[in-house]
Amino acid sequence: MCYAIPGKLVEINDSIGVVDYFGEKRNVLIDSDVNVGDYVYAQGGVLISKISEEEAREILIYWKDKFFELKEVDKELAKVEDIKASDNLLGLLQKVNLGKDLSKDELLFLLNLKDKDELKLLYETANNVRQKEHDNACCVHGIIEFSNYCNNDCFYCGIRKSKDIQRYRMTIDEIIKAAKEAVNEHGFRALVLQSGEDSWYDDEKLITIVKEIRKLGVLIFLSLGSRSKETYKKLYEAGARAALLRFETSNKELFSKLRPEKDFEERLELIKYLKELGYVIATGFIVGLGETDDDIINNILLTKSFGSDMYSFGPLIPTKGTPLEKEGIVDKEKIKKIIAITRFIDKQSKILVTTALETLDKEAKKEGLLAGANSLMIDITPKEYIQLYSIYDNRAVGGDLTQNIKEVVELLYSIGRAPTDLGV
Ligand code: 5AD
Repeated sequence: MCYAIPGKLVEINDSIGVVDYFGEKRNVLIDSDVNVGDYVYAQGGVLISKISEEEAREILIYWKDKFFELKEVDKELAKVEDIKASDNLLGLLQKVNLGKDLSKDELLFLLNLKDKDELKLLYETANNVRQKEHDNACCVHGIIEFSNYCNNDCFYCGIRKSKDIQRYRMTIDEIIKAAKEAVNEHGFRALVLQSGEDSWYDDEKLITIVKEIRKLGVLIFLSLGSRSKETYKKLYEAGARAALLRFETSNKELFSKLRPEKDFEERLELIKYLKELGYVIATGFIVGLGETDDDIINNILLTKSFGSDMYSFGPLIPTKGTPLEKEGIVDKEKIKKIIAITRFIDKQSKILVTTALETLDKEAKKEGLLAGANSLMIDITPKEYIQLYSIYDNRAVGGDLTQNIKEVVELLYSIGRAPTDLGV
């Protein structure tokens, strides 16, 4: 099964390459030795590996008809129906279609929509924008949660250091083995390496992990929390090209309350630095921490301000044994509205449907994808550890990986999405 379609490199202008996929052209960043005419894989807008023409042709035969077939299904689903709605809403959606920015009040108006038909129209419009900007590509990244040790005591988190849970750390060999399986047996081309903030993995260990996994020809996405700038720089040099680091909330007071001993400005500074280093960055926030609607709009705008390549946000899942265990459950429609609004504010972005959203509701993955989202992660943490990575209760993970992958691919095909990431 492929999570990337190979394309042919048809042009190179300094560090930017043009890759042709059945006549569709996308730009990619090049930082390795390749030539015009090579068949390559790209992920997250980065050229990650070269493959032989023979191998490429074999894969392309499978994709040839499927590629166009899926696009047709997606196009059909991305049409906006004629739905009755207030003039106010129709006016705002027209503004979106004309490429005009919405004011904060207008965004708040969208966030507060309640009428079922109006919500339907909002989601359909966002899906339409997604289709026009990105076509039917949907990134599918595999995530390996390699340690649940954490130096922090965040109020919302189920692996906070003061919580009494069974802790684990995967060895370097176990992590590399899991990555090899993901690539060689399951076809992943982008891997997220996630852990609590665990200093047991020092620079040397992390560099070894990154270098070894890089050899597999995949995009490495780091999700290690606040590590030093030097560490992130070294890991970039070792071959990591993407980093996921949420700021959690744009409300400074809330941040300080929920993340004791952590500095808000420092977190923002680190995210900016990651972008400067050249990482593809994913950042975002949790919804339901006690923030206002105004904060939510600020959360989206702050994510955008980093030049974020991917948005990662999801609902708080109140977790037993944490200070936020009694917080209310977030309405899934709220998250879908935020996905749609994000799509309007940052049309070019990738928007992730997170596991936390799926944990709220099984249907939410599909619904999120039809409300403007275009990225997914599949948890590929080894069986013996996956349940121990208990950042929140009742996580929608586990079960047989081959079966999980099959279900995701079937879902994507059913809505005309290609489980691949072509570049930008
Ligand atoms: N509910 C939802 N998301 C959570 N995270 C941590 N705890 C929870 C929770 N209870 C999120 C944080 C972190 C990411 C890895 O998981 O945003 O950045």
